[in-house]
Parts: sequence; structure tokens; C-alpha cells
Amino acid sequence: MVQRISREAGLQAFIDAVEKDGCVIIKDFTDLESLADAQKEVQPYLDASIAESGSKVGALNGGTATCTRLVGRSKTAREKFFSDPLYQDLAEHFIGIESKTWYGEEAEINKSHPLLSISITMDSRPGCKPQRLHRDDKNHHAWHTKTDKYEKGRDMLLGLFVPACDTFKANGATRIVPGSHLWGDDKPDFGPNGDKGVIDAELKKTEAFVMLGSLFHGAGHYTMPTGSRTVHIFFMCSGVHRQEEIPYLSYPIEDVKTYSKLVQNRLGWKQSEPNLGWVDLKSPEYLLA
Ligand SMILES: [Fe+2]
Repeated sequence: MVQRISREAGLQAFIDAVEKDGCVIIKDFTDLESLADAQKEVQPYLDASIAESGSKVGALNGGTATCTRLVGRSKTAREKFFSDPLYQDLAEHFIGIESKTWYGEEAEINKSHPLLSISITMDSRPGCKPQRLHRDDKNHHAWHTKTDKYEKGRDMLLGLFVPACDTFKANGATRIVPGSHLWGDDKPDFGPNGDKGVIDAELKKTEAFVMLGSLFHGAGHYTMPTGSRTVHIFFMCSGVHRQEEIPYLSYPIEDVKTYSKLVQNRLGWKQSEPNLGWVDLKSPEYLLA
């Protein structure tokens, strides 16, 4: 199962749930007004992506309109959803890295903060086929050893899904396999019908779903004749991994200058300590001054 937790339970309750199940639902993530604002901001891009591809909508199985470069195109997605303190704290916990290194006999502790890997709105429509169950950390060639107990540092991706509508089986709510983040890399056993241990992560508007990159999941089958399922999706990666979307090419520097310090840092405009991601031997944030 996937636990549904309110913010008042505190960070540790969310950490415990993610360690146990690989995912959690934040019950009181946002409000209807923010969802409406975000919808207004992404709609032109969703419409354009449909117009561009004609009847064969979007990429990804067909049937899905998209708004890429989401944190640039939607201020609400950037400042409210992506910058949400609980999501940021969970990312620091699960994919932030702190390590000790030796200079001679002197110890030095370095901290590497998470980066935004991808932000995209996906708007799935009639005809959108289900995805095969997969782990998103495939992109980073992650390997997994089977374990009974979660160990910090195991993952390099943490995702946030913010639905703009209720999601349920018929509109293709994400199918997930709670606990599969603890599996190894052997062939998974989903049973004869391919649904052993699989549940639908059904979400209500204003809730959000958080999951580790090692969790088996896949978009469900959109079986309704009309409508669409809009979800704003963000993934952060560890500060020592390559970002899926290239932020330096996707977000012009003049735009980045207007973003909050947090977002600038998460896009990679602050180097990861020690010595990763610099320009002229300096952390690139000086270019934003
Ligand atoms: Fe995925």
C-alpha cells in the first residue's frame, strides 16, 4: 500500500513511509487556486504540443500532450510545487550526499545538494496506452542490491507528481509496486497477469505523490472516451549525477536571474562541493550577479 500523510505529521513520518514503501502521498500538498494557476500557465504549451503532432499527440506512447521546461514556463510549478519545502527536505534527505575525504591526515566534510533533473507536465488523453512497469533510475544506469531494510544513499532520484485532476484507474493513474525499491536487479516477478503487488496510485486534486527513482511504476491505461489526465512531474537527481533535462540550454540565463536562489541552485548554478560544475574555476552563480 501507499501511505497518505498530512504535513502536520512532520518530515520523519514521510521519511519512514518512503523508506518502507518507496513512495508516499502528501495529503495536503497544494490548493485548488494554485492548481488553476498552473493549468493556465501550461495550457498554451499543451495545446501547442497537440497542434504540432496533429492527431498523433505528443511523445511517450502517443496520446500524451506535454509541457516541457516546466519550471521555466510555469511560475506556480516552479515556486509552489517544485520549491515546496517538504519535497525539498525529502530530496535533501534521500539524495543529498555528505561525505568525508582526507587531505593528508585532515578530514574534510563535503555536501552535495540535489539538482532538478526533469520538470514536465503530462496530459494523457484517450488512446494513451499504459507504460510497462519500470524504474526511472534506468537513465542513470543504477544498480540495486536486494535488501530488507532501506539504507540512505541507495537512490539518486526523487520524484514529485502533482495531479491537476483526480487520478483513478480509468484515467490511467500511475501503477506502482510499493516495496519494489528494495528489490535487486534480477528479473522481477509480476505474476501471470503482470499485476502481482501492483496498485493504482489514485490521487485526489491537491494531493501529491512522492517516489524514489528505484520504485517500479508505470502510467496506467487511459480507457475513457473523453477528457484528459494532467500531472505536473518533477524529478531531482543527486548533485553528482547528470540532469535528464539540460538546464543550461533549456532555461535562458536572463530567465534564471529572476528565479529564487533555491531554484537557481537546483538548476545547477551553484557548484557541487567539492569542485563539480564550475566555470573559470568558480561556482557559476557569479554569472547570475
Ligand atoms: Fe517513469
